[in-house]
Amino acid sequence: MERRILAIETSCDETAAAVTQGRKVISSAVYTQKEHELYGGVVPEIASRNHILKIPYIVDEALCGADIQFSDLDAVAVTDGPGLIGALLVGVSYAKALAYYLKLPLIPVHHIEGHICSLFISHETLLPPFLCLVVSGGHSHIVVVEDYGKYRLLGKTRDDAVGEAFDKTARVLGLGYPGGPKLEVLAREGKPVYQYPRGFKGETHLDFTFSGLKTAVINHIHNMEQKGEVFNKADIAASFQHEAVSFLADNTFEAAVRERITKIGIAGGVSANGRLREVFGQRAKDAGITLYLPEMRYCTDNAAMIGCAAGFSEETKEPLTLNANASKMLFE
Ligand code: KG4
Ligand code: ZN
Repeated sequence: MERRILAIETSCDETAAAVTQGRKVISSAVYTQKEHELYGGVVPEIASRNHILKIPYIVDEALCGADIQFSDLDAVAVTDGPGLIGALLVGVSYAKALAYYLKLPLIPVHHIEGHICSLFISHETLLPPFLCLVVSGGHSHIVVVEDYGKYRLLGKTRDDAVGEAFDKTARVLGLGYPGGPKLEVLAREGKPVYQYPRGFKGETHLDFTFSGLKTAVINHIHNMEQKGEVFNKADIAASFQHEAVSFLADNTFEAAVRERITKIGIAGGVSANGRLREVFGQRAKDAGITLYLPEMRYCTDNAAMIGCAAGFSEETKEPLTLNANASKMLFE
């Protein structure tokens, strides 16, 4: 019988708890902090304070949703990094106290490993090896999932993450925070009529760069404003999105060819993007590749993915000394 795990995730601005058993999600509760909208981005101190206020209620919601009590649990899991240090510390401290009091094993989980495991929740039969594109507000990685808990990095962003580029471009377009989903909605009303430059053109590695794309959009807008040109913001959003998604797809499908892999997964907040899902779907079909996408509710931060990752992870031998690690590594 698989362990029944209470998982906790507080690495950024979502306070989340879930009860999982193997790949099965018994319940999942997520509170997305609205307080940051006022500031146009996540304010770390506000995030930490909100986690403290919300975490008991979110854990309660997860237990109620699973119709169980603390005494029915077999283990506690928590994201211990990477993320905002103050935010991570709330989840880690809470999980440590709970595991100590309940005399349960404590399983630390890497946030990115959690995102990758969201694919196991949504696809019961998915087995490693497969290629995974992890695209979030902090990461843009192409990873070979060689086995459970065994990863090999093929490419990553050298500057901004793609989600960060969506958020920053959305801010320039006056869309507010969180920008990614808002930019996607605006882009639906426009056409990708502008061609923004691709970084690393002609190079053979599989890394990304997104800060130049964001700067190209900013310069383009300023130029048009200075000349008094009338422009359609939706066309700019569509053009940005087109280039960002094409860059992700070009490198990911090239990685699949080089590795001779016919299974590609996408995980992380940006995997919720409809255009990205569409483009990857079409390219996978053309290349004879099977594409795995998380359900929408498991794309952005949640604790179900943390519980799923904990299902095949080791408990920490010294639970009381576990600390949050803002820049925890997953790859050598
Ligand atoms: O995985 P996630 O919830 O948190 C991190 O681990 O960073 O990802 C959040 C990121 C944000 O940058 C957000 O703008 C982006 O994912 N995102 C999207 C969409 N939904 C979320 N970007 C583009 N289109 C979307 N529909
Ligand atoms: Zn995330």
